[in-house]
Amino acid sequence: MILARDAIRFWRNGQPIEVSGFHPRTTLLDYLRLQERRVGTKEGCAEGDCGACTIALGRLKDGRVHYEPVNACILLLGQVDGAEVVTVEDLAKSGELHPVQSAMVAHHGSQCGFCTPGIVMSLFTLYHEAERPLGRDGINDALAGNLCRCTGYRPIVDAALEACSGKPDDLFAEANGATARGLAAMADGQDLVVGSEAHFFAAPASEASLAALYDQHPDATLVAGCTDVGLWITKGMAELEKIIWLGRVSGLDQIEDTADALTIGATATHAAAYSSLASIDPDLGELMRRFGSVQVRASGTVGGNIANGSPIGDLAPALIALGSKLELRKGESTRVIPLDTFFIAYRKQDRQPGEFVRRVTVPKLNSNEVFRAYKVSKRFDEDISAVMGAFKLRLDGRRIAEARIAFGGMAGIPKRAMETEKALTGISLDDPSSWGDAMAAIARDYQPLDDHRASAVYRATVARNLVFKALSETASGETGATRIIGRREALAAAE
Ligand SMILES: Cc1cc2nc3c(=O)[nH]c(=O)nc-3n(C[C@H](O)[C@H](O)[C@H](O)COP(=O)(O)OP(=O)(O)OC[C@H]3O[C@@H](n4cnc5c(N)ncnc54)[C@H](O)[C@@H]3O)c2cc1C
Ligand code: FES
Ligand code: FES
Repeated sequence: MILARDAIRFWRNGQPIEVSGFHPRTTLLDYLRLQERRVGTKEGCAEGDCGACTIALGRLKDGRVHYEPVNACILLLGQVDGAEVVTVEDLAKSGELHPVQSAMVAHHGSQCGFCTPGIVMSLFTLYHEAERPLGRDGINDALAGNLCRCTGYRPIVDAALEACSGKPDDLFAEANGATARGLAAMADGQDLVVGSEAHFFAAPASEASLAALYDQHPDATLVAGCTDVGLWITKGMAELEKIIWLGRVSGLDQIEDTADALTIGATATHAAAYSSLASIDPDLGELMRRFGSVQVRASGTVGGNIANGSPIGDLAPALIALGSKLELRKGESTRVIPLDTFFIAYRKQDRQPGEFVRRVTVPKLNSNEVFRAYKVSKRFDEDISAVMGAFKLRLDGRRIAEARIAFGGMAGIPKRAMETEKALTGISLDDPSSWGDAMAAIARDYQPLDDHRASAVYRATVARNLVFKALSETASGETGATRIIGRREALAAAE
């Protein structure tokens, strides 16, 4: 075992706190409720869906503390190392409610109150971070991960509009400088290991330490954002004894944006990658807007979404269609593979014991290339896709010179539609009568899943229709007739 710090450190109510000797799979919510005995933060679903457990994490960026909401139920206690932890109990100042809390009272934003602490904490982060002026759409997006079963959202949104009308002026704005200095002092760049050889929570600080530790303990579970692994713990009761958290590995979250490609480090969160992905194509931005919730995007990572290998993950099909490459590392060696070859069979990826995902490189679009991505799910907000289709078409005038298509939800892995790609090559956008063969080819590419999310027949029909939709939109250059929400013309006008 490497020599390392043996306790986590975080900032809480204006001072540093050290915690050691905890079980590696202890969640932050259990720590808050069972150790601190601060029970304002609620447990509803214990799977990241309802937002009742929302707390704020403050992290240092560009010399200032920035606040993000996270779901404490699926965040490990060890993951707060180096951050400020803010819960609903901390907001009032000398007995006076926080502006967000006062606005919730004034607008009758609470009935049974179970969701209220989580909603207040989501609004607290919005109060600190949202660009002004803030409209209803922005607030709706911010609350997509907070379920209120009784009040209805109008009074809550009204409260948010009022609270976020001016500049942040609360305890946390006043203390930002002091907190930033406190967080900077805690950032020691040391490896962290709480536990023993058999049973630990480790957070290496460098890639070299990570590579060495994982090589030594290939049976350990890697955790990035924990938005998938968290559910193995709370729902699957998984007995994870060795956890390696990637969130402190210096540089692994780096995003490089060049003229030709975007390279996203494995631990870049969805929130961090959002705008870079959106700049490749508005459909990627819309996909990210609908990826989980603000809380899930604040914790969940691009590398975790890929490495997880879920057949219904959203990023893999989009990145495969764009022709992305994946870089992996084991010990001192690295290798680069086409992303589509990473997925071998259901939950089986091309990853050796002790090997981890390092980064993904996403080529940008050329002027003669068109991209479309469609997420089809039962709910608009915070839902996993039933079908996710992504298309990249290279055009030679009005003819399709090359097609690259990938779907999620249609097989045991995110998978390319090679037969459909072939059938599309050479056809004219001006001759819809020639599109039918390509639509029919979907049936040769996939034998879709049949489960509670969607039947196989539904999935096959949707996928076939998405081919038609992509062709119609490419032929017309418009989405007015094909979309109700996420119209590309509206997104372009809003920029
Ligand atoms: C409420 C909710 C909503 C969600 N909505 C969506 C959605 O809309 N679309 C979607 O696609 N997904 C969604 N998810 C799933 C999840 O958020 C994503 O898959 C997320 O990107 C996982 O990233 P993570 O960093 O949290 O992964 P983790 O949970 O930390 O890890 C996931 C898996 O990847 C492995 N792993 C992580 N990083 C690496 C690495 N660098 N190298 C090797 N292995 C690694 C872990 O060992 C684990 O097996 C949702 C989840 C929740 C709880
Ligand atoms: S308890 Fe529902 S999101 Fe955490
Ligand atoms: S006030 Fe009852 S769930 Fe929101």
